Amino acid sequence: MSATIIVVGAGQAAAAFAAKLRELQPERPITLVGDEPELPYQRPPLSKKYMTGEMSLDRLLLRPAEWYDEHHIECRTSVTVDSIDREDKMVVLSDETVLKYDKLIIATGATPRRLAPAAGGELAGVYALRTLADADAMAHEFKPGRKLLVVGGGYIGLEAAAVAATLGVEVTVVEMAPRILQRVAAAETSDYFRALHRSRGVTVTESASLIRLAGDNGRVARAEFADGSALDIDFALVGIGVTPNVALAEEADLAVGNGIEVGLDCRTSDPDIFAAGDCASFKFRGQRIRLESVQNAIEQAEAAAHVIAGQKVEYKSVPWFWSDQYDVKLQIAGFNLGYDSTVVRPGIREGQQSVWYFAGKEFLAVDAMNDPRAYMMGKRLLEAGHDPAKSITPEQAADPDFDLKSLL
Ligand code: FAD
Ligand code: NAI
Repeated sequence: MSATIIVVGAGQAAAAFAAKLRELQPERPITLVGDEPELPYQRPPLSKKYMTGEMSLDRLLLRPAEWYDEHHIECRTSVTVDSIDREDKMVVLSDETVLKYDKLIIATGATPRRLAPAAGGELAGVYALRTLADADAMAHEFKPGRKLLVVGGGYIGLEAAAVAATLGVEVTVVEMAPRILQRVAAAETSDYFRALHRSRGVTVTESASLIRLAGDNGRVARAEFADGSALDIDFALVGIGVTPNVALAEEADLAVGNGIEVGLDCRTSDPDIFAAGDCASFKFRGQRIRLESVQNAIEQAEAAAHVIAGQKVEYKSVPWFWSDQYDVKLQIAGFNLGYDSTVVRPGIREGQQSVWYFAGKEFLAVDAMNDPRAYMMGKRLLEAGHDPAKSITPEQAADPDFDLKSLL
């Protein structure tokens, strides 16, 4: 039982942490403990090219198996960390192994919310999408002419709807909020994606009140709504958000509030325990937030590795996200928290558009639809920080003839 660095979870953040720490400290023992059977893999293709069949399993893996051997990184898969003993600095695994740690990283990710059993959440044919196993379990359902109900018009729901519609599935999306993508984007971006999906034959219903999924012999067959209407369906995908996996941290008495609380150095309330990725919350513009994205998982994990290697690092990067739906690439730079106005910048080509977010005069974020140039310029302006010479006004952003590059 030699003291080592243990990473709880073997997902996006865990893999990024291990790679960065190995680069900084070639000799330090590292063990990843993950409850899924696979080595760390990327989740984004699960609702995109893996779902369409264009991407194979081996391309999903973040690193091939040999890489972990060559870099002396131990991966224990299909095993759960059941508890953390902070006093003796050790973790207990589901196979009863006890591992001593010197530093611990919690990178446990998040779990999809489900519909309650009484609302049909446990019927056969009702799926969630988080893991490779989830994606494989529902793959056989995506056949032309079958009827899919997507519950939730967030990223998961809309990306899956795009894949399904492209494969000839009849898709209905029901969103509880007044508009799809309400959690993450302004009305103009919701309008763009609603129109896109409708143009591909997807039925999008907002302010929908789904009461339950119902079926015969334990298999889903219809959706029932508050207004008394019902819709016949063959299968359902529930994408109604996630909750951070914080139970281990709570049981170990670490500070938890909308995720495991970390400082800008990614340390939790215990100086020997760090957290990164979907499970971690940090201060951003005075509020404690969590970001559920690949960029955040990688950069927080890398920041933790730098700190453990003895460097002074603060995680303060400009967030970025992307989503692929049909032939549209949405790219988002910045985080729109606290915006009070938006402007739309038309693109040059059809379908190209960007939405720019401001709080007063401060530029916060941009959503760029098939407009990589607007995304890149927005990102560079945000990275330039508060230099007044490089700030952009709403009028400049809205004017397609204004040369964004002139600000840089
Ligand atoms: P995860 O990658 O979820 O890894 C956490 C791992 O820890 C999991 O394997 C979990 O099972 C394991 N674990 C949990 N508890 C324990 C325990 N006690 N013991 C052992 N193991 C444990 N983001 C984007 O930026 N762009 C996208 O296009 C995008 N597309 C996505 C598509 C899909 C279908 C999904 C599901 C997510 C997508 N995301 C996307 C989000 C992105 O994948 C996540 O933000 C990212 O994976 C978070 O990384 P993480 O390491 O925090 O968590
Ligand atoms: P989400 O939070 O983005 O969207 C969930 C949606 O479901 C919301 O619009 C919400 O109003 C709606 N909803 C909640 N309860 C409902 C109900 N009972 N009936 C109907 N609608 C309901 O979460 P989502 O889409 O499930 O994604 C899960 C995670 O995966 C997130 O962390 C997301 O960031 C990540 N992801 C990211 C992608 C990207 O960045 N491109 C792509 C796919 C997933």
